[in-house]
Amino acid sequence: MKILVTGAAGFIGSALAQRLVGAGHQVTAIDNFSDYYDVNLKKLRIKSLLEPVGLQVTNLDISKPNEVATLIDSIKPDVVINLAAQAGVRLGLSETYKYVESNLIGFSNVLIATIENKVPFFLYASSSSVYGDKASIPYKESETNLHPNSFYGATKLANELLTPTLVRNSSTAARGLRFFTVYGPWGRPDMAYFRMISNVVSESEFSFYGDGSIERDFTYIQDSVDSIIALTDELKSRKPGYSDLVNVGGGRPLSMNYLMETVSSLANKKVSFKRVDGNLSDAVKTMSDSTYIQKISGTKPNTKLEEGLAKTFEWATQSEISINLDKWVNSVK
Ligand SMILES: NC(=O)c1ccc[n+]([C@@H]2O[C@H](COP(=O)([O-])OP(=O)(O)OC[C@H]3O[C@@H](n4cnc5c(N)ncnc54)[C@H](O)[C@@H]3O)[C@@H](O)[C@H]2O)c1
Repeated sequence: MKILVTGAAGFIGSALAQRLVGAGHQVTAIDNFSDYYDVNLKKLRIKSLLEPVGLQVTNLDISKPNEVATLIDSIKPDVVINLAAQAGVRLGLSETYKYVESNLIGFSNVLIATIENKVPFFLYASSSSVYGDKASIPYKESETNLHPNSFYGATKLANELLTPTLVRNSSTAARGLRFFTVYGPWGRPDMAYFRMISNVVSESEFSFYGDGSIERDFTYIQDSVDSIIALTDELKSRKPGYSDLVNVGGGRPLSMNYLMETVSSLANKKVSFKRVDGNLSDAVKTMSDSTYIQKISGTKPNTKLEEGLAKTFEWATQSEISINLDKWVNSVK
């Protein structure tokens, strides 16, 4: 199949694009190489994961409607997978426009061009952040009490609301993927697990938000990629006009304190940290109800945090990576 992946220099996008090429698909990969974190990490992902399988990433900004329309019209993909976004919940007010540009304007451009070009299947990254603290635990796709804690989460909820309005009377079937705290090798340096590992490997500063009791449903990167692929295959059985939302999470929430203990035991060294006040954009606990993903894809993310972190730690200690960790962590805007 011809598949367009946006955000392909990013953490999830690069892992997904690599797998899709390996499975024999014709992949077009785009990214605008945003400077939210060190662009050299994105370049190194391409060099290590994508160039060996013969894939290049084209520099294209999805907030530019004409460029997006021309690209989709010229390649006529069977599937568009939109992962490009301003990720993370912590940007300050003066940078909030970045969420607007990529997650609202950029997202709408991709959605519109996908529908105009009658692309049969559209999948897009949403987030567990759409749920917010008022939703019942575990989070179910059918939850209606959605009050995101962050502007970021609200842009993802907006994507979920916008999609069916255009898909309904179209030739496209769509699926929103609610990811839950994805971690692993080649990950994002703004995330706690990455900063903890960097702290023990290269002694870079680690700011610990809150008292460590908040819990996350951690999802290993390869499980996320397996799920995206299985959910793309399943979407092919759906008719044009169909749209749904799927939790891509395993349902095993663990605390930040446990995360820190696990990193310490892997490194045989304490994570030293500076305690910082908890952030109101952080939900107290995320936990996926994985009944739906299990039902439609026959599987769900199931790598244990201890196992996935061990692989991440092993990656981080390679010399080519370890010399950069500190720089990558400090590059986060
Ligand atoms: N990693 C997680 O835990 C997680 C959890 C929930 C949702 N998500 C969502 O999954 C998607 C991928 O996340 P990730 O962790 O790989 O983040 P990432 O930041 O590593 O990847 C996103 C990529 O999109 C690119 N991008 C941003 N704006 C763009 C634009 N206007 N045009 C083209 N490219 C643009 C960035 O340069 C980046 O390489 C995002 O939509 C994110 O919001 C991720």
